[in-house]
Amino acid sequence: MCGIIGILGENSAVKAFNALKKLDYRGYDSWGIASKEKNEITLFKQTGKLPEILPVKFNSNVSIAHTRWATHGSVTEFNAHPHISSNKKIAAVHNGIIENFEELKESLKEQNYEFYSETDSEVIPNLVQFYMEFEKKDFITAVIRALSKLEGNYAVLFMHEDFNGIIAAKNGSPLVCGIGENEFFFASDVPAFLSHTKKAVYLNDLELAVASNNKIHFFDLKKNKEIQKETKIIEWNLEQAEKGNYAHFMIKEIYEQPETIKLALEQPKEKINEAIELINKAETVFLIGCGTSFNASLTGAYFFSELTKIKAFAFNASEFSALKNSINEKSLIIALTQSGETADLIDAVKFAKEKKSKIISIVNVMGSSITQLSDLNLMMNAGPEICVLSTKSFSSQLTILLLLASAVAGKTSEVKKIILNAANYITELIPIAEKKAEKIAEELKNAESILVIGRKEFYPLAMESALKIKEVSYIHAEGYAGGELKHGPIALIEKDFPVIVLSSEKTRVNTLSNAHEIKSRGAKIIGIDSIENKLFNEFIEVKEFSYANALVSIIPVQLLAYYLALEKGFEPDKPRNLAKSVTVR
Ligand code: AGP
Repeated sequence: MCGIIGILGENSAVKAFNALKKLDYRGYDSWGIASKEKNEITLFKQTGKLPEILPVKFNSNVSIAHTRWATHGSVTEFNAHPHISSNKKIAAVHNGIIENFEELKESLKEQNYEFYSETDSEVIPNLVQFYMEFEKKDFITAVIRALSKLEGNYAVLFMHEDFNGIIAAKNGSPLVCGIGENEFFFASDVPAFLSHTKKAVYLNDLELAVASNNKIHFFDLKKNKEIQKETKIIEWNLEQAEKGNYAHFMIKEIYEQPETIKLALEQPKEKINEAIELINKAETVFLIGCGTSFNASLTGAYFFSELTKIKAFAFNASEFSALKNSINEKSLIIALTQSGETADLIDAVKFAKEKKSKIISIVNVMGSSITQLSDLNLMMNAGPEICVLSTKSFSSQLTILLLLASAVAGKTSEVKKIILNAANYITELIPIAEKKAEKIAEELKNAESILVIGRKEFYPLAMESALKIKEVSYIHAEGYAGGELKHGPIALIEKDFPVIVLSSEKTRVNTLSNAHEIKSRGAKIIGIDSIENKLFNEFIEVKEFSYANALVSIIPVQLLAYYLALEKGFEPDKPRNLAKSVTVR
């Protein structure tokens, strides 16, 4: 999604431009910057990717910048941010969607305001101008008035030609403040300013910050009063946010999993106890998420059914409101999300809160929108996941779900040991599986479609495997429950049709009978199991880790997806059409 950055301090334009590059993983199709020199704002905007260096020179200590992932309006310079008010005095960058922008735009047009873009965001600086001109409000008050008229999500930064500072406000989209030495940063995400400071203040929804004259103040827009905010020290070092010596973030984050699985295990005891209390008190537990986080939710439902008597069901967050008659104060929602900003998930959680349900989030980004909506946040501790594809966040989510189910079952120490052993084994598995994956990717690179099958928790694993392959290699892939093939999909099977078979001791007998069915119709089978079988044309061995098998068996497929992308000459970290955090519905 869009990336925003604002910098108050010397050399602000170059710093803002470089900060945008740290946000480019969020996906974008145009970019822009606004800087204030003396009492004049100058804009520079371009479609396409960020160039090596900032193409213009600004001598300014106030700059805001933006990478745009188009929602309202096509990819043009006019639609790129920053947007400027009709009187050219106020510039703003915005991430989110203003749902009532048409009516605001119409009423401003009636006041002879002129618009140059198709975007919703352009109404924001013009609304501020309106309140400064017609209600004679000062800049800060006018911003607050304008924000009160917006319906929808925003993370927005403002500058005014006569104001030596930046105003920042958040409601539903990510925004974090960096506190430097004689400089302030506002950004969608921490990597944007991590090279300058590790001190961060996380704005909550409907909070506003004003940085000027080397000071920063915070306001609660609901209570309309100044508030104090805690400065946190970011544990991520810059290296974590950078690629290190890996060719891509995707392979780096796959390799990080042994470490991040262990970090996911580090849940404060009191938080696990609070979670168990909520789970045991609930009549029904709903695990919800989108994309990979939904696949993790479904895997978690299998964990709960395997280890406990808890009624736990997984549901796509984007479809969750369909359950309107089943959600109530006795429901517990476990919301899974790496970014904490997925609009479909936030909507689902807000819907559940209206029904008086309790919310536990399993989330990776501290201070993200979902953390402010939840009764309890279990942090994934996975460090920044820069690749658009979720890999380490998937295994971190599974780890925490397995931890919760085992805690309910009173098997925490037993299962924790299994997970730790699995994590240590993954360290040795990755390089071995990587070589096999590279070879198999060469064989499969021209496949038109790939099926992945598994049973029990390997069924959502098959779905996650297919999602990885689709997302990064653009080869059509589908994940099926092994038993489902004979109910239709087997019609697809013909000579050399590739099928990845995920199985383990627990599911092998029935899964291999599915493998027989497809083998007899000519399928080319890639087996991922702890023992080889003559049905397999290719085989990647994974050891058995009981409840934690899912954590291990996903690794070879993540690697296969990565090498399929490379075989096809695609960029694994930023697949086409995708964004890291989907903050639109
Ligand atoms: C998975 O590889 C994708 N990046 C996507 O499906 C993602 O899992 C989904 O958009 C949910 O994102 P979240 O975990 O940040 O909520």
